[in-house]
Amino acid sequence: MIERTFVAIKPDAVKRKLSGKIIQRFEDKGFEIVELRMLLLDDELLEQYYGEHKGKDFYNDLISFMKSGRIIAMVVEGNDAVKNVRTMVGATKPWEASMGTIRGDYGLSTPHNVIHASDSLESAKREINLFFKD
Ligand code: TYD
Ligand code: MG
Repeated sequence: MIERTFVAIKPDAVKRKLSGKIIQRFEDKGFEIVELRMLLLDDELLEQYYGEHKGKDFYNDLISFMKSGRIIAMVVEGNDAVKNVRTMVGATKPWEASMGTIRGDYGLSTPHNVIHASDSLESAKREINLFFKD
């Protein structure tokens, strides 16, 4: 089934100039990038984006990291995109992520884990709407 999911290349990866390689992986796999923008997140957007984690021990570090530089937000379309993109992204903690996944290949620590991808079709709809209202 053709789906759309939300992907964000995080500030660490943008700074390390990994964006091109990461986008290339999705295109090589057969996905299409249907929306893309670069932006600096503010507190209001971040609160909506990561609201589910508010109160957790890693929340403050996560928020300051996500504000530390620009991100690249995109909508990725293709077959079972939510599940397949999460598989390509790998485990949340990069040291637990398999080699061959984006986090496994490029990450070392949290919260600097390179990339975000929606965890369900419902999250994808919510996140796409948050970043691409217009
Ligand atoms: P989460 O939604 O659990 O992971 P994912 O990004 O794989 O969907 O957490 C959101 C982000 O919060 C995660 O990408 C990095 C950060 N985080 C930490 O810094 N430490 C942690 O222990 C967890 C679970 C997340
Ligand atoms: Mg998540």
